[in-house]
Amino acid sequence: MILPIVAYGDPLLKKKAKDISKDYPKFDVLLENMFETMYNAYGVGLAAPQIGLPIRLFLVDTSPFSEDEDLSKEEQDALSGFKRVFINAKIVEEEGDEWAFNEGCLSIPDVREDVFRKPKITIEYLDENFESHKEVFDGLIARVIQHEYDHIEGVLFTDKLSSLKKRLIKGRLTNISKGKISVDYRMRFPDQKKRR
Ligand code: NI
Repeated sequence: MILPIVAYGDPLLKKKAKDISKDYPKFDVLLENMFETMYNAYGVGLAAPQIGLPIRLFLVDTSPFSEDEDLSKEEQDALSGFKRVFINAKIVEEEGDEWAFNEGCLSIPDVREDVFRKPKITIEYLDENFESHKEVFDGLIARVIQHEYDHIEGVLFTDKLSSLKKRLIKGRLTNISKGKISVDYRMRFPDQKKRR
Protein backbone atom coordinates (compact mmCIF):
# COMPACT_ATOMS: atom_id res chain seq x y z
CA MET A 1 0.00 0.00 0.00
CA ILE A 2 1.29 3.42 -0.94
CA LEU A 3 1.32 5.69 2.10
CA PRO A 4 1.01 9.48 1.99
CA ILE A 5 4.35 11.25 2.49
CA VAL A 6 4.35 13.92 5.17
CA ALA A 7 5.20 17.33 3.72
CA TYR A 8 7.54 20.04 4.97
CA GLY A 9 6.06 21.97 7.88
CA ASP A 10 4.69 18.95 9.75
CA PRO A 11 6.07 19.04 13.33
CA LEU A 12 6.75 15.31 13.11
CA LEU A 13 9.64 15.97 10.72
CA LYS A 14 11.32 18.05 13.44
CA LYS A 15 11.02 15.43 16.14
CA LYS A 16 13.75 13.04 17.24
CA ALA A 17 12.47 9.51 16.60
CA LYS A 18 12.47 6.63 19.11
CA ASP A 19 14.10 3.20 19.00
CA ILE A 20 11.88 0.20 18.29
CA SER A 21 12.01 -3.41 19.44
CA LYS A 22 11.67 -6.69 17.58
CA ASP A 23 8.02 -7.05 18.56
CA TYR A 24 6.97 -3.87 16.74
CA PRO A 25 3.43 -4.64 15.45
CA LYS A 26 3.09 -5.68 11.80
CA PHE A 27 6.66 -4.77 11.02
CA ASP A 28 6.82 -6.77 7.76
CA VAL A 29 3.77 -4.97 6.41
CA LEU A 30 5.23 -1.61 7.41
CA LEU A 31 8.49 -2.35 5.56
CA GLU A 32 6.66 -3.53 2.47
CA ASN A 33 4.50 -0.40 2.45
CA MET A 34 7.49 1.88 2.95
CA PHE A 35 9.44 0.30 0.05
CA GLU A 36 6.37 0.58 -2.17
CA THR A 37 5.90 4.22 -1.15
CA MET A 38 9.58 5.05 -1.80
CA TYR A 39 9.68 3.39 -5.24
CA ASN A 40 6.38 4.96 -6.26
CA ALA A 41 7.90 8.40 -5.60
CA TYR A 42 11.24 7.49 -7.26
CA GLY A 43 13.09 8.07 -4.00
CA VAL A 44 16.46 6.59 -3.02
CA GLY A 45 15.61 6.72 0.68
CA LEU A 46 12.62 7.03 3.00
CA ALA A 47 12.48 7.48 6.78
CA ALA A 48 9.57 6.47 9.02
CA PRO A 49 8.84 10.06 10.19
CA GLN A 50 8.10 10.86 6.53
CA ILE A 51 5.14 8.50 6.62
CA GLY A 52 4.03 9.76 10.02
CA LEU A 53 5.79 7.37 12.39
CA PRO A 54 8.21 8.79 14.98
CA ILE A 55 10.43 5.68 15.01
CA ARG A 56 14.12 5.11 14.15
CA LEU A 57 13.66 3.29 10.87
CA PHE A 58 14.74 4.18 7.35
CA LEU A 59 15.26 2.49 4.00
CA VAL A 60 17.86 3.13 1.34
CA ASP A 61 18.05 1.88 -2.26
CA THR A 62 20.67 3.72 -4.29
CA SER A 63 20.04 1.78 -7.54
CA PRO A 64 18.74 4.84 -9.47
CA PHE A 65 22.10 6.58 -8.92
CA SER A 66 23.92 3.70 -10.63
CA GLU A 67 22.79 5.02 -14.02
CA ASP A 68 24.89 8.17 -13.57
CA GLU A 69 27.38 8.03 -16.43
CA ASP A 70 29.86 10.29 -14.66
CA LEU A 71 30.61 7.49 -12.22
CA SER A 72 33.14 4.69 -12.67
CA LYS A 73 31.92 1.14 -13.37
CA GLU A 74 32.98 0.17 -9.86
CA GLU A 75 30.94 2.99 -8.27
CA GLN A 76 27.93 2.17 -10.47
CA ASP A 77 28.05 -1.49 -9.39
CA ALA A 78 28.27 -0.57 -5.70
CA LEU A 79 25.25 1.73 -6.01
CA SER A 80 23.12 -0.65 -8.05
CA GLY A 81 23.24 -3.42 -5.44
CA PHE A 82 22.74 -1.26 -2.39
CA LYS A 83 19.36 -1.84 -0.76
CA ARG A 84 19.20 -1.73 3.03
CA VAL A 85 16.92 -1.34 6.02
CA PHE A 86 18.33 0.60 9.00
CA ILE A 87 16.71 0.18 12.42
CA ASN A 88 17.75 2.07 15.58
CA ALA A 89 20.74 3.42 13.66
CA LYS A 90 23.48 5.46 15.30
CA ILE A 91 26.22 7.20 13.31
CA VAL A 92 29.26 6.83 15.56
CA GLU A 93 31.79 8.62 13.36
CA GLU A 94 31.92 11.01 10.39
CA GLU A 95 35.27 11.69 8.75
CA GLY A 96 36.96 13.61 5.96
CA ASP A 97 36.61 16.98 4.29
CA GLU A 98 33.04 18.10 3.66
CA TRP A 99 31.82 17.89 0.07
CA ALA A 100 28.76 19.38 -1.61
CA PHE A 101 26.02 17.35 -3.24
CA ASN A 102 22.74 18.59 -4.65
CA GLU A 103 20.12 17.02 -2.36
CA GLY A 104 16.38 16.72 -2.59
CA CYS A 105 13.76 15.20 -0.29
CA LEU A 106 10.41 13.50 -0.90
CA SER A 107 8.92 15.69 1.87
CA ILE A 108 10.16 18.86 0.11
CA PRO A 109 9.22 18.40 -3.57
CA ASP A 110 10.98 20.43 -6.27
CA VAL A 111 13.51 21.98 -3.88
CA ARG A 112 17.13 20.95 -4.50
CA GLU A 113 20.14 22.55 -2.89
CA ASP A 114 23.82 21.81 -2.36
CA VAL A 115 24.43 20.37 1.10
CA PHE A 116 27.85 19.90 2.68
CA ARG A 117 28.57 16.66 4.51
CA LYS A 118 31.59 14.57 5.47
CA PRO A 119 32.33 11.75 2.99
CA LYS A 120 32.83 8.78 5.29
CA ILE A 121 30.66 7.42 8.10
CA THR A 122 30.67 4.58 10.60
CA ILE A 123 27.19 3.46 11.56
CA GLU A 124 25.72 0.91 13.95
CA TYR A 125 22.27 -0.42 13.10
CA LEU A 126 19.94 -3.40 13.09
CA ASP A 127 18.84 -4.89 9.79
CA GLU A 128 15.29 -6.04 8.95
CA ASN A 129 15.92 -9.24 10.96
CA PHE A 130 17.03 -7.15 13.95
CA GLU A 131 20.60 -8.38 13.61
CA SER A 132 23.20 -5.82 14.53
CA HIS A 133 25.91 -4.45 12.24
CA LYS A 134 28.67 -1.89 12.41
CA GLU A 135 29.78 -0.71 8.96
CA VAL A 136 31.72 1.98 7.18
CA PHE A 137 30.24 3.71 4.11
CA ASP A 138 31.48 6.47 1.86
CA GLY A 139 30.56 8.44 -1.25
CA LEU A 140 26.94 8.58 -2.40
CA ILE A 141 25.86 5.67 -0.21
CA ALA A 142 27.08 7.52 2.89
CA ARG A 143 25.38 10.67 1.58
CA VAL A 144 21.95 9.01 1.30
CA ILE A 145 22.35 7.37 4.72
CA GLN A 146 23.29 10.72 6.29
CA HIS A 147 20.22 12.38 4.75
CA GLU A 148 17.89 9.63 6.01
CA TYR A 149 19.62 9.50 9.38
CA ASP A 150 18.95 13.21 9.76
CA HIS A 151 15.23 12.47 9.34
CA ILE A 152 15.20 10.21 12.41
CA GLU A 153 17.07 12.95 14.30
CA GLY A 154 14.42 15.51 13.31
CA VAL A 155 16.66 17.35 10.86
CA LEU A 156 15.91 18.30 7.24
CA PHE A 157 18.46 19.18 4.57
CA THR A 158 17.02 22.70 4.45
CA ASP A 159 18.16 23.13 8.09
CA LYS A 160 21.76 22.78 6.87
CA LEU A 161 21.62 25.65 4.36
CA SER A 162 23.06 29.13 4.84
CA SER A 163 20.67 31.75 6.23
CA LEU A 164 20.71 33.48 2.83
CA LYS A 165 19.66 30.29 1.02
CA LYS A 166 16.99 29.68 3.66
CA ARG A 167 15.55 33.14 3.05
CA LEU A 168 15.56 32.58 -0.71
CA ILE A 169 13.52 29.36 -0.51
CA LYS A 170 11.23 30.38 2.36
CA GLY A 171 8.25 31.16 0.11
CA ARG A 172 8.50 27.84 -1.67
CA LEU A 173 8.67 25.98 1.64
CA THR A 174 5.56 27.80 2.90
CA ASN A 175 3.74 26.82 -0.29
CA ILE A 176 4.72 23.19 0.20
CA SER A 177 3.36 23.15 3.76
CA LYS A 178 0.06 24.57 2.43
CA GLY A 179 -0.13 22.00 -0.34
CA LYS A 180 0.25 24.66 -3.02
CA ILE A 181 2.42 22.50 -5.27
CA SER A 182 1.87 19.87 -7.88
CA VAL A 183 3.35 16.52 -7.02
CA ASP A 184 2.77 13.14 -8.63
CA TYR A 185 2.78 10.99 -5.47
CA ARG A 186 0.52 10.90 -2.39
CA MET A 187 1.32 13.57 0.21
CA ARG A 188 -0.14 14.93 3.44
CA PHE A 189 0.19 18.68 3.94
CA PRO A 190 0.12 20.14 7.48
CA ASP A 191 -1.34 23.56 6.64
CA GLN A 192 -3.72 22.63 3.86
CA LYS A 193 -7.10 24.28 4.35
CA LYS A 194 -9.74 21.70 5.10
CA ARG A 195 -12.72 21.58 2.78
CA ARG A 196 -15.95 22.51 4.52
NI1 NI B 1 14.45 13.43 2.86
